[in-house]
Amino acid sequence: MDASTLALSRIGLAGLAVMGQNLALNIAEKGFPISVYNRTTSKVDETLDRAKQEGNLPVSGHYSPRDFVLSLQRPRSVIILVKAGSPVDQTITALSQFMDPGDSIIDGGNEWYENTERRIRETSERGLLYIGMGVSGGEEGARHGPSLMPGGSFQAYKNVEDVLLKVAAQVDDGPCVAYIGEGGSGNFVKMVHNGIEYGDMQLISEAYDVLKIVGGLSNSELADIFADWNRGELESFLVEITGDIFRVKDVFSGGNDELVDKILDKTGMKGTGKWTVQEAAELSVAAPTIAASLDCRYLSGLKEEREDAARVLKEAGIREAGEVLVGRSIDKKRLIDDVRQALYASKICSYAQGMNLLRAKSIQKGWNLNLGELARIWKGGCIIRAIFLDRIKKAYERDRELPNLIVDREFSREMVQRETAWRRVVGLAIESGISIPGMSASLQYFDTYRRARLPANLVQAQRDLFGAHTYERVDRPGSYHTEWTKLAKQGKTGVGALN
Ligand code: 6PG
Repeated sequence: MDASTLALSRIGLAGLAVMGQNLALNIAEKGFPISVYNRTTSKVDETLDRAKQEGNLPVSGHYSPRDFVLSLQRPRSVIILVKAGSPVDQTITALSQFMDPGDSIIDGGNEWYENTERRIRETSERGLLYIGMGVSGGEEGARHGPSLMPGGSFQAYKNVEDVLLKVAAQVDDGPCVAYIGEGGSGNFVKMVHNGIEYGDMQLISEAYDVLKIVGGLSNSELADIFADWNRGELESFLVEITGDIFRVKDVFSGGNDELVDKILDKTGMKGTGKWTVQEAAELSVAAPTIAASLDCRYLSGLKEEREDAARVLKEAGIREAGEVLVGRSIDKKRLIDDVRQALYASKICSYAQGMNLLRAKSIQKGWNLNLGELARIWKGGCIIRAIFLDRIKKAYERDRELPNLIVDREFSREMVQRETAWRRVVGLAIESGISIPGMSASLQYFDTYRRARLPANLVQAQRDLFGAHTYERVDRPGSYHTEWTKLAKQGKTGVGALN
């Protein structure tokens, strides 16, 4: 190596918004000299200032795409962290003209997986390698250890494997990164991670609602309960931060009230949860808990309509949520324990849906996803990190072809143990008009999946009656059609003709 080669950076990162800056500093802190670039040059200076303040980290700033690309060791690897969609295409155009065959581009945004597949094809025409890498963990994760889901060119992954292994969050069984598979698999896995994230957040918010309305619990009691839950089977990032949220006071009310009560009840979203539900529908995979969480975000957005509906229905005589319970004595301790169990059982169903969506896509695309390994790399760094993911990993290690987490020998036992409490919570909420779409969707998923016989026979009969869609029988092979209406009018027993 000559002197000029020695001065070159190991890796580059373009796009220095919050995630980009933090990931760049993380990479530098792990001992990999990094070049950074951003179209708005003040962001480059900001990153350099932070690199200096946070321990003189080896970051070099560049103000033009050419200088940036030429500052990298070959084969060059460039991570881009810009807004998904056309900004990614623009960044690729700006940088790739200075790159050589064998160099790689790694998009770390929440990108639609088909965009990644298109870019893999486009960049390969110029000999470039491409990765779509899911990055989870927000600002904190990016800076100190995210969960990374790289998919696409295996060679491009190998070129940066040493960096990713050090930069990712570290858990008891290794760094939270693994090569996911070909094509847009890394983005797809991250998308499903986000769908599961939507489900988890919805389920937690329902637990809060039930405890608050039925149990009359204060924010400080809720803070203690979530902190307590975070020491057991529900231990997870989202449960932990929920406990913290309840403790924060509102400055505008002079610190008397808690901030959580002042927040407008309208949820925002950026789209990955919607994609998850769309993909589930495309692949004929039932994902009712995740879909319920998405629907709830839509309904939450109708604030003014909901206020009107509350007024109209009150005038029509409806009782407020929880009013039916007034005067009934509630065993708070049991309620808290029931809600904990309902949350856990509901989560199992939600993860089962996400995992089955991943498996269906893997089969369709030939990605050969390893579900146990995905659960492992979600154990740390990411938003859905949880102690429970280790159980999921083990379930898939026991049986790689496990059709559903519900029928794993450990999870099935746990669900049955929690069944009564789960039904009590859902029943109480329904009776008292508290909406719990996530928990009830999970329970309905469980109750539908576990039944050997469903009323789908009647739906088939209806379809055959009005559309001659035919049906199969339980007792003999073949496909049948019956003249239902004619026979019913004649009062005769239907004899299905073989189609
Ligand atoms: C993560 C998160 C992150 C996501 C936000 C916002 O894994 O770090 O999933 O990527 O963008 O959670 O998502 P919504 O705006 O759709 O809620």
